[in-house]
Amino acid sequence: MLKLCVFFVFVASSGFGESSEADQQYRRHDFPPGFVFGAGTSAYQVEGAAKEDGRTPSIFDTFTHSGSSHGANGDVACDQYHKYKEDVQLMVEMGLEAYRFSISWSRLIPNGRGAINPKGLQYYNNLINELISHGIEPHVTLHHSDFPQAFEDEYGGWISRKMVLDFAEYADVCFREFGDRVRHWTTFNEANIFTITGYNYGALPPQRCSFPSEFINCQRGNSSTEPYLVAHNILLAHASAARIYRKKYQGKQKGYVGFNLIAFYLTPFTNMTEDITATQRANDFYHGWFADPLMYGEYPETMKKNVGSRLPSFNSLESRLIKGSADFLAFNFYFAAKVKDNPRSLQIHPRDYSADMAAELSMSLQNVTTELEYPITPWALQGMLEYFKQKYGNPPMYVHEIGQRMQRNSTLEDLSRVKCLQEYMGAVLSSIRNGTAVRGYFVWSFLDVFELLDGYRSSFGLYYVDLDDPNRKRYSKLSARWYTHFLKGDTASFIKLIQDESSSFSHNHVMVK
Ligand SMILES: *[C@@H]1O[C@H](CO)[C@@H](O)[C@H](O)[C@H]1NC(C)=O
Ligand SMILES: *[C@@H]1O[C@H](CO)[C@@H](O)[C@H](O)[C@H]1NC(C)=O
Ligand SMILES: *[C@@H]1O[C@H](CO)[C@@H](O)[C@H](O)[C@H]1NC(C)=O
Ligand SMILES: *[C@@H]1O[C@H](CO)[C@@H](O)[C@H](O)[C@H]1NC(C)=O
Ligand SMILES: *[C@@H]1O[C@H](CO)[C@@H](O)[C@H](O)[C@H]1NC(C)=O
Repeated sequence: MLKLCVFFVFVASSGFGESSEADQQYRRHDFPPGFVFGAGTSAYQVEGAAKEDGRTPSIFDTFTHSGSSHGANGDVACDQYHKYKEDVQLMVEMGLEAYRFSISWSRLIPNGRGAINPKGLQYYNNLINELISHGIEPHVTLHHSDFPQAFEDEYGGWISRKMVLDFAEYADVCFREFGDRVRHWTTFNEANIFTITGYNYGALPPQRCSFPSEFINCQRGNSSTEPYLVAHNILLAHASAARIYRKKYQGKQKGYVGFNLIAFYLTPFTNMTEDITATQRANDFYHGWFADPLMYGEYPETMKKNVGSRLPSFNSLESRLIKGSADFLAFNFYFAAKVKDNPRSLQIHPRDYSADMAAELSMSLQNVTTELEYPITPWALQGMLEYFKQKYGNPPMYVHEIGQRMQRNSTLEDLSRVKCLQEYMGAVLSSIRNGTAVRGYFVWSFLDVFELLDGYRSSFGLYYVDLDDPNRKRYSKLSARWYTHFLKGDTASFIKLIQDESSSFSHNHVMVK
């Protein structure tokens, strides 16, 4: 049994100091020049218009229409495809400096390769122009869990080396068509979690795993081998795209191509050597798996040792191509975890990714799918950034996602989200003051989007979107008003926001349904 071993402890705020009102007196201008504040979405999660204007299915359409994802899907989602002007107007009112979104590969190039879809091209040009004309920077992701189903059908998608070339050609089209206005590119969103959930657990598309997995009975896949193959091809695809950008576009367009991972702050469960070593190993398996090749051109030694011949290797040419190919590292941060050694997992045959890691984490995919609100641990974000600063020589870094998950229909007065955004923002400022090269902070998510794990049960948005309204009307939450105050120069303190609101507005305590 490839049982996903999990043990649970509550990761409480430790030592680094509780936040106080005094800690929240920082303002927008306390962040260094060039630092950017934004909010994000991704194509499948926000656009809708899934079958319109020539778009073909991505692996996410297949997943949602097979009855997975709690019966929800992104067919309409927030309908941003038709409402992008209204959304950019909300961003303008908010004072948002950057919008992070992704391109739907199968909207731009139906079926993945060959002719460009003129309607898809027009849509992204319109969106980008609308942002630029209002002074909002587009930060664009090329692969956010939604590659064309056509490639999954043709050759198994990322398990095949053929994806490397197809991805590089798609990236080339994006750089060529949009690069005169887009300077910040991210090739892959959450490459590590995409790989683990899609190819080890099978919990998310393309739902490949060894039968039976903890989460589903996969019809195809191999959790012993495919996660490593997929990660390898993703790294080669990133490096190929980055090389194209540097050779053909960077001189003129002066932009950057980075890579995004979900990042955890991992600390040992006890001070026993075994747990300390297990924590290093878990860092290698979650982060170093991608970051080591990008920074050093090699997989971590612990992975080579535990995975053995199932871990593909880079030849010297590939290694040189990958090393240094990321202009920045970007992180989506949601939680901390304690790590416990689990040597027994190495006796399991056949082993999968989690068994190879030989460590158990206190927070896992299961908690992400069952627990609603995440504990707020600003010290952990600071610790995570410090880890990457020390381990990889302080590369330019972005915090691409910070957010609080709440029940979707609950309230517009999302205090716990304000607290989350504010405390993590303070942690980023402390990191910067300690020399960490953080360049931007993006809230996940701008709107209440279709969530990849939860469908429409939970949400993270600054704006509520009424799904029962055919117009998908947007309503600002307290968090949107708080971010607006901050971006316009007020302090990050939300106590002050409440005071301001009760004195100057008739406070709109709308309970949503
Ligand atoms: C993780 O989920 C389990 C079961 O749902 C729960 O008992 C536990 O408290 C959760 N742990 C954390 C850290 O939230
Ligand atoms: C996974 O691949 C390995 C190595 O090729 C093979 O030994 C094993 O039988 C495969 N497992 C499944 C479930 O197909
Ligand atoms: C480990 O040791 C450090 C330093 O002595 C201490 O601060 C920390 O609380 C210990 N952690 C655990 C989990 O025992
Ligand atoms: C600040 O940076 C120094 C040098 O990297 C490091 O030793 C120290 O632990 C950092 N402090 C915090 C609170 O992260
Ligand atoms: C929100 O609540 C309404 C009324 O209870 C319900 O009909 C609707 O399905 C809910 N929507 C979601 C996304 O949970």
